[in-house]
Amino acid sequence: MDYGIIINKERLITDDELPKKLIAVGINTHPTISFEGETNEILLEETAALWFNKMVGDFNSLHNNKIIPDSGYRSVERQERLLKYYYAQDGEKAYTYVAPPRSSEHHTGLAIDVAMIVDGEYTDDITGEEPEIKELIENSYKYGFILRYPKGKEQVTGYVYEPWHFRFVGLDLAKEIHETGLALEEVVQLKSKKGFKL
Ligand code: DAL
Ligand code: ZN
Repeated sequence: MDYGIIINKERLITDDELPKKLIAVGINTHPTISFEGETNEILLEETAALWFNKMVGDFNSLHNNKIIPDSGYRSVERQERLLKYYYAQDGEKAYTYVAPPRSSEHHTGLAIDVAMIVDGEYTDDITGEEPEIKELIENSYKYGFILRYPKGKEQVTGYVYEPWHFRFVGLDLAKEIHETGLALEEVVQLKSKKGFKL
């Protein structure tokens, strides 16, 4: 598995790249938007799931179980339904925060959105100003995750700031991205240049 895979509006996922094996993340989950016939299980690629469980497990043991997984692997069909759902609410603006089918990295099983439990209640209304989210973002590279759609990189990633969307890229790449402050697209492009060292 190429943990550095880029899936975005220009680079759509192919059938061969769809994950072969997914496992349910083992942390208490909360039903997200669900469409008829779908499971609420939150699935990730195996290694990403193990690291996610470790990251959130470590974090929650310090912070009273505040972070919960919200949306992991999504099929192409689910993404299509989500886009329709948000398009009905927001029109064209939906394209700034929902990827069209096959351009979502949720198809890879390497991306996961988190939500929070605040005063016992579930919320996915995350601004990035919550101390817990700030701390999670700051430490996620130690577990091979990055915040995939950072503030200030909207033109590069094609999406608005999403302080809830984490992407597993593996330990080395996550550290490089953390240290350079570049977006995944920028790092992968630089590294593809012959002899280039970050
Ligand atoms: N929210 C991200 C961009 C997605 O829909 O994949
Ligand atoms: Zn997401």
